[in-house]
Amino acid sequence: MRDVAPVPAADTAAAAPAAAAEPTLRQLAARHDLAFGTAVAMAALADDAEYRTWVAAQFDTVTAENEMKWAALEPARGRYEWGPADALVAFAEAHGQRVRGHTLVWHNQNPAWLADVPRDELGAVLKDHVQTTVRRFRGRIWQWDVVNEVFEDDGTLRDTVWLRALGPGYIADAFRWAHEADPDALLFYNDYEVEEVNAKSDGMYDLVRELVRQDVPIHGVGVQGHLTADHAPLTMRENLGRFDALGLRTAVTEADVRMPLPADPVKLQAQANVYRTALDACLRTPGCLSFTVWGYTDRYSWVPGWFEGDGAATILDEDFAPKPAHRALRDGLSSGGRRRRD
Ligand code: G3I
Repeated sequence: MRDVAPVPAADTAAAAPAAAAEPTLRQLAARHDLAFGTAVAMAALADDAEYRTWVAAQFDTVTAENEMKWAALEPARGRYEWGPADALVAFAEAHGQRVRGHTLVWHNQNPAWLADVPRDELGAVLKDHVQTTVRRFRGRIWQWDVVNEVFEDDGTLRDTVWLRALGPGYIADAFRWAHEADPDALLFYNDYEVEEVNAKSDGMYDLVRELVRQDVPIHGVGVQGHLTADHAPLTMRENLGRFDALGLRTAVTEADVRMPLPADPVKLQAQANVYRTALDACLRTPGCLSFTVWGYTDRYSWVPGWFEGDGAATILDEDFAPKPAHRALRDGLSSGGRRRRD
């Protein structure tokens, strides 16, 4: 296995001035019994002390942006590389944080060798991946994204290697396998463009309602929250509410709000409103456990690499200067409290 240096501890006393002067995001979120989280880019965590300080000081939970995906964990069949994922879990534990595990069953970032696995072995291979990974971190992962992004925009199941080889039953099986491997972890279905009431979230609703009816061990639904500054998700509260009514937890798992570059004050204010709308939807949903941003500084955001011409999607700019969105989230977390349902 490749040697991975432990990530240095963060110097939280040296938190950026704006953060040091005020309660942290995690302190504000605690008033609502909400966990405020971020995705973490492991290279930045290892190399950038300012990045590390912000992660440790401001957030309750961390999600590996890439290091717990299958391709990263098992690059060659049977050869696991746990180092970077272990390093993140250790960092979280050293800073009193919980971990969102991301993600076990997906159609992306799977290892190349999977393409050579005969079809009739795929079920056993998937089960082994899920259980080996969940067991490895047993007792140390708060929420697992067990199944990720299985819907098309129209709410039908996406045509993936798993659906073709195993039929739709693999979704329930994945939750059962994960639950066997760590009965205490909260198990989530996670997807994008399901923040609002639409055909895709209708499909997701039908699926998870059926899983609940069949007593499949699913505990929550994650709405990723990759949003755009030109559209506030006004039906998000209603949408989270219908999953809440099924007795499921909910979570915003990957929030960011992109805009066409260059950013300007009008776009940044619109972005702030979108972040705030998403946060408020979570705060008004009794079972919404956590609000996670998919990176918190434009220095390391995935967005410009994926959406040509877009960017500025996070709450701090490339120099860690807070944007209006940062203030909007702080304001949202500063107002009122709520009674949460566990
Ligand atoms: O690991 C290779 C590295 O060896 C190589 O040198 C480098 C050159 O480009 O690429 C590296 O892989 C990149 C990987 O991130 C790790 O950095 C891939 O090219 C890149 O495509 C990959 O992007 C990630 C993307 O998922 C892939 O699907 C993003 O960082 C990550 O933010 C993004 O996260 C997803 C969530 O998991 C699920 N929801 C949507 C979200 C955004 O797409």
